[in-house]
Amino acid sequence: MEQYAIKGGNPLVGDVEIAGAKNAALPIFAAAAMTDETVYIDNIPDVRDIDVMLDAMRSIGVVVKRISRHRVMINGGNIHNVTVESDGCKKIRGSYYFLGAFLGKYKGAEVVLPGGCDIGSRGIDQHLKGFRALGAEVIIEHGLVKARTKCLRGSHIYMDKVSVGATINVMLAATLAEGMTIIENCAKEPHVVDVANFLNSCGANIKGAGTDVIRIRGVERLHGTEYAIIPDQIEAGTFMFAAAVTKGDVTVKNVIPKHLESVTAKLLEIGCEVEEADDCIRVVAAKPLAHTQVRTLPYPGFPTDMQPQMTVALALAKGTSIVTESVFENRFKYVDELVRMGGDVKVEGGDTAIIDGVEKYTGASITVPDLRGGAALVIAALAAEGCSIVDNIKYIQRGYEDFHIKLQNLGAQIEMVETDKDVQKFRLKVG
Ligand code: UD1
Repeated sequence: MEQYAIKGGNPLVGDVEIAGAKNAALPIFAAAAMTDETVYIDNIPDVRDIDVMLDAMRSIGVVVKRISRHRVMINGGNIHNVTVESDGCKKIRGSYYFLGAFLGKYKGAEVVLPGGCDIGSRGIDQHLKGFRALGAEVIIEHGLVKARTKCLRGSHIYMDKVSVGATINVMLAATLAEGMTIIENCAKEPHVVDVANFLNSCGANIKGAGTDVIRIRGVERLHGTEYAIIPDQIEAGTFMFAAAVTKGDVTVKNVIPKHLESVTAKLLEIGCEVEEADDCIRVVAAKPLAHTQVRTLPYPGFPTDMQPQMTVALALAKGTSIVTESVFENRFKYVDELVRMGGDVKVEGGDTAIIDGVEKYTGASITVPDLRGGAALVIAALAAEGCSIVDNIKYIQRGYEDFHIKLQNLGAQIEMVETDKDVQKFRLKVG
């Protein structure tokens, strides 16, 4: 089983190139299958969730050619099946985008109930509400979500909860519905905008993505295009916090600084220096970190996907900090592992972490509970005194391209190991 062996203590220093956004790529792949013409997509990240999604597409007749590591060709002209139920799709969240995409294109789809990280109950009621408002009949049977209709008609939909997934899924379906759809109380995340831009480049008529209200005038068909995915703001934010936690000096390159404003604001608040240029951000952590409070919120608020990385930084800051998770119910699973490394963090009421800063972490054997919690624990291990062995890294590989290699290039002592012998070798090497 693959693990990371880490010897902490080196400040991370240097430049790191940020990959394309996984959470934009997944819906854009589903959207690409909505046209019978060929689509080329660039800047795709080379991570496991992407492979799962592309394999699922191949299994139903979509032609998928990985032209290079970060470029793919997709042709959805010969889809023979609208039932998507591979084992891989049960484990990722993005598979539910086939529902909206195929409901729009074929007026029907059957997709296995989606999985993803275990960070709360993660209902899909708002997706189903949107599909029903467009005229679809939707049932859940034998573990599949089944949606179908004779005619998809534009509608006025108010989302009861701000949801990235539901906003995108309903937008996908409405793109090929008859007439006008208005979605209110939409998610405004950069990847919602990216999916809308992609669809518009295929001939869709979508206005308002990135605001609370999206207006979609249905079109009859979509055409081929060539498109580049936006940079991953969560990967970028993770490296920015890695700089803060290890007292380093890191420049994240190929980013859109505007997408990282809330992350930048918190880094400044805790005493880091942050310099922005057109497509890069430099974070220097020269001073001791200061305590603060933060609440996760939908964009442009502080992202829930950055909450564990923030907590890991605050647990080394002087004084008491409070982190409140308001998007998902169960997103502090990594805290038990952080405590094993010497962190003084108590979770109260399931949604609030009370953090008393400590001087240092100490290396330990730790198990990754989910994608972002896992990345945060690796950062803690990089700052810790001594060695850590990190288990269950498959979660991290789902969403971070070459995570340990990018960290090595910044000066981290981290290696992927498989056997006890590898671990011993690593320990001998790092002393
Ligand atoms: C996406 C991201 C995830 C990120 C999250 C919030 C992907 C593959 N994943 O997840 O990394 O943490 O956005 O930025 O893009 N909800 C409902 N009913 C619904 C839909 C959502 O109650 O029908 C709730 C969820 O349980 C959660 C909240 O709304 O409490 C936000 O969820 P949502 O924005 O939909 O997250 P995902 O799209 O699953």
